[in-house]
Amino acid sequence: CGIVGYIGHRDAFPIIIKGLQRLEYRGYDSAGIALFDGNDINLSKTKGKVEDLKNKAKEISQKGNLGIGHTRWATHGVPNDVNSHPHYSNSGDLVIIHNGIIENYESIKKELTKRGYVFSSDTDTEVLVNLIEEVKKTEDVMLGKAVQIALNQVVGAYAIAVFDKRKPDEIVVAKLGSPLAIGIGEDEFFIASDASPFIEFTNNAVYLEDEEMAIIRLGKEIKLRKIKDDAVAYPRILELQMNLEEIEKGGYEHFMLKEIYEQPRAIKDTYRGRLLADQGLIRMAGIDQNLEKFTNANRIIIVACGTSWHAGLVAEYIFEDLARIPVEVEYASEFRYRNPVITDKDVLIAISQSGETADTLAAIKLAKEKGAFVFGVCNVVGSSIARESDAGAYTHAGPEIGVASTKAFTTQITVLTLIALKLAKAKGVFSESKYHEYLSELETIPAKVEKALESNPLIEIISDVYKDSTNCLYLGRGYNFPVALEGALKLKEISYIHAEGYPAAEMKHGPIALIDEHMPVFVIATKKGHYEKVVSNIQEIKSRKGKIIAIVTEGDEQVTDLADHVIEVPETLESLTPLLTTIPLQLLSYHIAVMRGCNVDQPRNLAKSVTVE
Ligand code: G6P
Repeated sequence: CGIVGYIGHRDAFPIIIKGLQRLEYRGYDSAGIALFDGNDINLSKTKGKVEDLKNKAKEISQKGNLGIGHTRWATHGVPNDVNSHPHYSNSGDLVIIHNGIIENYESIKKELTKRGYVFSSDTDTEVLVNLIEEVKKTEDVMLGKAVQIALNQVVGAYAIAVFDKRKPDEIVVAKLGSPLAIGIGEDEFFIASDASPFIEFTNNAVYLEDEEMAIIRLGKEIKLRKIKDDAVAYPRILELQMNLEEIEKGGYEHFMLKEIYEQPRAIKDTYRGRLLADQGLIRMAGIDQNLEKFTNANRIIIVACGTSWHAGLVAEYIFEDLARIPVEVEYASEFRYRNPVITDKDVLIAISQSGETADTLAAIKLAKEKGAFVFGVCNVVGSSIARESDAGAYTHAGPEIGVASTKAFTTQITVLTLIALKLAKAKGVFSESKYHEYLSELETIPAKVEKALESNPLIEIISDVYKDSTNCLYLGRGYNFPVALEGALKLKEISYIHAEGYPAAEMKHGPIALIDEHMPVFVIATKKGHYEKVVSNIQEIKSRKGKIIAIVTEGDEQVTDLADHVIEVPETLESLTPLLTTIPLQLLSYHIAVMRGCNVDQPRNLAKSVTVE
């Protein structure tokens, strides 16, 4: 879900619509806009896509230099026109957009109902805007103050933007949990969940911190305040480096495909300036400055969600194998609620593309409270998790727009490999020659990913054979077990085919019962890493008539003889194979989803940044 707002001298409508389209990648199920035409507010909202909103908004006046727009991912109330944002207050003077959840909305709603307020939607947001209205009336205060008092009464998470038609030179915004950026132009301001809606107008932005609000008034400087105690905060204006090209499709049919193809470049960007193979050096400030925290750690705990969690699983193999440090990998949502044992001898690594995932953020806060050292691996610069961590390393993959994560995954693994190698070296558990072999092999990975991408036409043919499947199984062992999980997740997310990832040997404890001639089984069977054992697993599938699609090392003969289809990837060190084997699985999911007519970049029900728990 995303928010966009504009106040200035241009027409707000096209800026907001285009801005919402730029935020579409975050995932949503309805959209809406409210514009002030000089006299009144014109509001239009609908279930569906921004394109539907554009059509529906033909019914209203699109005039005005002040407006707010929203894409909603339903939490309270089903996705329909009424529940879409923006929401009016009862008087019709105030209008609001909101990302997040107000947890205590029911008790506030009851109270407001007693005082005569009526609600047309099921949303927590409509309760919030009426609470602001009630405060404004009873306390006789300006909008900014009313927002502040109201927010002190709510429990939950939010990024909001609200304006009052009786004072149309001002928008009030506030943030707790969900991201909110303000773009500063000349005599104009932009509001958005991230900078992509306004990057073509200005490079100057202020990112609100949690528990901060801002009063944005035309002709004035932005006023930042702490929501709790009204303390004045100073706007920290950042100069953004993102360019427009990075957030556009650049000739590809979908963002996902563009991002899959960007991986050679993205991986190179991840290790650029860090990996100095000729000098035998890995330079990472966040690790260098905290080396002892890592080398003295009892264990490393990795927390993440979704694809990032799969990168964490790969990292578990790498850290234990190379650096000999015990690692636990947990879903952030489980970790935060299970009263985990954490001490100040633990290092917690949080992995997150967006840096905004609510559960991961909460897990960090918990670990910090218990004294652990927190290291963030994020893609989005300046994101909440990046700011909340004690130290960290960015993946530098560039904006990832497709909801299904691709380049974020491979670049996360790249960063985590660099860290493991640094720690292995520092702990002296690695021979010099092995260390150097790793560094130079890592440098060959972008070219090898390029090579793996060359199988695209073959993968398209294979996709056509299996596009109508209803179930698929993904198998891998060792380093490629998490890749099997990730392959299955990619297929589920964008093609809506049920898929399961399994450690190949575990198959006989359950999934083998599902195998028949209708079941495609994708097996990662690269030369290094339990090759012979995987061959046995393939035989078990074959004797039950399952269809085998194998990812193999270039020149493979044994599996090639057994499998129905093989897709080759170049040879590399075992621990680096996930960077290659994951590529054909991404492409497979992509083609199957396209062939099934699915919305690849914005799959149903999914969101890119899950800022609610
Ligand atoms: C959502 C996205 C996934 C992503 C997960 C974790 O579910 O759709 O692609 O892996 O969140 O997101 P993060 O930004 O923390 O990596």
